[in-house]
Amino acid sequence: MPGITIGDTIPDLQVETNQGKINLHQFCADGWTILFSHPGDFTPVCTTELGKMAQYAKEFYQRGVKLLGLSCDDVQSHNEWIKDIEAYTPGAKVNYPIIADPKREIIKQLNMVDPDEKDSVGNLPSRALHIVSPDLKIKLSFLYPATTGRNMDEVLRVIESLQKASKFKVATPANWKPGDPVVISPGVTNEQAKEMFPKGFETVDLPSKKEYLRLTKV
Ligand code: BEZ
Repeated sequence: MPGITIGDTIPDLQVETNQGKINLHQFCADGWTILFSHPGDFTPVCTTELGKMAQYAKEFYQRGVKLLGLSCDDVQSHNEWIKDIEAYTPGAKVNYPIIADPKREIIKQLNMVDPDEKDSVGNLPSRALHIVSPDLKIKLSFLYPATTGRNMDEVLRVIESLQKASKFKVATPANWKPGDPVVISPGVTNEQAKEMFPKGFETVDLPSKKEYLRLTKV
């Protein structure tokens, strides 16, 4: 699908939310932001997802990450829907803003349109999720269909990975979890790695004898 993707700067839109007007660049500039869309208010999977996001919010805020939801209904509908979300997920408080996009204009600009889901107004949003870094660039995107709810543990895991990679010259291997070793980026020489990673690193012995898989802890 054409539209903004990783590496792109998010558009500087003025959006209406249930907490008032937000300027996207201003909102996203002072930390990391998870911008996540939903097909619609008062729909079952979305109700579970927004509740789970609220349950995980503390974990995100502790890592300097703000949440910003989007659903294509209006502000009044969002405020009514929040009562259901909080009732369904015990302890959840939806303190993060939810963008209202009843005309389906914002979802086009944010590349969040589901080509297969339509109602009488037009195409619905997919379950898209962009992670925006403080320099306003999209660093990671998920794109799920309406029928698949997202896993907030995975969202938290990728935030940890992105933040490690932004701080150190490392990457996280398959099935990595916080606390596991990370790999040193290929562009770093062994000499540089000795200085960069005071805890040392282990080079995996591979049949090729190319020393490219180096593990360390940060
Ligand atoms: C849901 O949130 O459950 C949903 C929304 C639109 C289509 C299918 C499922």
